Amino acid sequence: MARERWGSKLGVILAVAGSAIGLGNFLRFPGQAAQNGGGAFLIPYFVALFLLGLPMIWIEWTVGRFGGGFGHSTAPGMFHTLWNKNRFIKYFGVIGIFGPAVIFIYYIYVESWILGYAWFAVTGQLNACIEGRSFEQATLAMKDFLRGYQGAAPNEHFSGIGPAYLFFVLTFATNLLILYGGVQRGIEAVCKYGLPVLFVLGIVLMVRVFTIATPDPRKPDWNVVNGLGFLWNPDWSALGSGQVWLAAAGQIFFTLSVGFGVILTYASYLTPKDDVALSGLTAAAANEAAEVIIGGSIVIPAAFAFFGAAATAEIARAGTFDLGFVTMPLVLQRMAFSELLGLAWFLLLFVAGVTSSISLAQPAIAFLEDEFGLSKKEATLVFGLNTFTLCHGVIFFMGNGVMDELDFWGVNLCLVLFATVEIFLFAWVFGMDRAWTELHAGSDITIPPFYRWIIKYVTPAVLLTIFISWLVQGGFEKIFMMKDVPEKDFYYILGTRLALVAMFANLALLVRFAWKRRRSGEAAA
Ligand code: ALA
Repeated sequence: MARERWGSKLGVILAVAGSAIGLGNFLRFPGQAAQNGGGAFLIPYFVALFLLGLPMIWIEWTVGRFGGGFGHSTAPGMFHTLWNKNRFIKYFGVIGIFGPAVIFIYYIYVESWILGYAWFAVTGQLNACIEGRSFEQATLAMKDFLRGYQGAAPNEHFSGIGPAYLFFVLTFATNLLILYGGVQRGIEAVCKYGLPVLFVLGIVLMVRVFTIATPDPRKPDWNVVNGLGFLWNPDWSALGSGQVWLAAAGQIFFTLSVGFGVILTYASYLTPKDDVALSGLTAAAANEAAEVIIGGSIVIPAAFAFFGAAATAEIARAGTFDLGFVTMPLVLQRMAFSELLGLAWFLLLFVAGVTSSISLAQPAIAFLEDEFGLSKKEATLVFGLNTFTLCHGVIFFMGNGVMDELDFWGVNLCLVLFATVEIFLFAWVFGMDRAWTELHAGSDITIPPFYRWIIKYVTPAVLLTIFISWLVQGGFEKIFMMKDVPEKDFYYILGTRLALVAMFANLALLVRFAWKRRRSGEAAA
């Protein structure tokens, strides 16, 4: 079977940028920045971008293109090609399929809330819930609305989880349909149109926020300029906290989609002559523009203008979901054409979400295609049936911590562990001289030579430091002693962990089976 390829250079850049630009840019980033020192957060954030993010991007694009040359689209095969003397390394590669699939299982559910909320915004249901209420009452009403929607507590808006389930099925079907179309006609086509739409929506919302006149003349300090100050005035004392540096590094990983395994898969559809150095840099730059400029200019500054400093501090602490599903509806309700602006906001999030979730699914689908000879459609169906079933754990037991548990394993553990293995393989096993030559093959730019040194020594050292401090600061206890798990959730969390172990073991067995199959095929030939 001929390998799938991207249709154009712009297509692959937009697909990778689409994977990177997601809910992390518009919800997670402003929340993290506000909680971790405001403008001072940008220092560890940019340090992490230059010392971790960019090196990992170049490594993943290069390893992906290299592995694709051997017919592999996923980490087990790629790791094996980088270190073919080692029989076990391919099993480490399983993380590059397992991690994104775990994140996909809950990410797509959150994505489906966005679709639901787009509907509630345009039909006026969100505004009806807020109108005539004080800020405090409206906040409680919106939180209640969200809990009712999630099926956590039936109320006057929702008697059960039916509507959430319906939007989930629609979102899931949309993702599957795109994946079913394949790399060029599915993923690339959607990103080619989706990304420009996303930027236009983001810029419209940003301009609208910048043109908010001081809403309350009795409170002249409550305005957008001070809102931007609230987010960006540096609290230098934050730089002394290890937690802030960890948060910044975590945000860089999450937002750039590095350490997931998805860039490896996307880059595997390049030809050996295609550039990776400039393309990787361009996709990262697009992500940073969407995150720091647009993501930092919507929720927090707008909330400040309407609700003031004390309430905004509270809002920033309330976390990612509250920013999107509680605060933004409150902000938008205060503006003219609020239904349309609400639609724009949720559409922006939905496009950002879809272009990311399809990338999370692609490694597993590509693995089934490459290693078992399944057709695109068969592989998509097998992946769809399995993940659709697993999503039910998140939908029905979210209140018991299942979603947070998946996030813990998928994001906190897998990303850093996977990145550490990758860089070790690339810079030390494959060797820095070959790695540098491979990175520059077909390249449109020359990467500054000091990056050789960063990739070989600095990035692995920083990654190991992050990983060890994370283990020491509670990661170890959380993994092995189930620290902080409430008693009522104990069996749900245990069940989730057993399911994850089974999923990992299954994938590892599939790898074993695929290699046996490959060997017997080679022997017969
Ligand atoms: N990089 C994706 C995001 O920011 C996963 O949401």
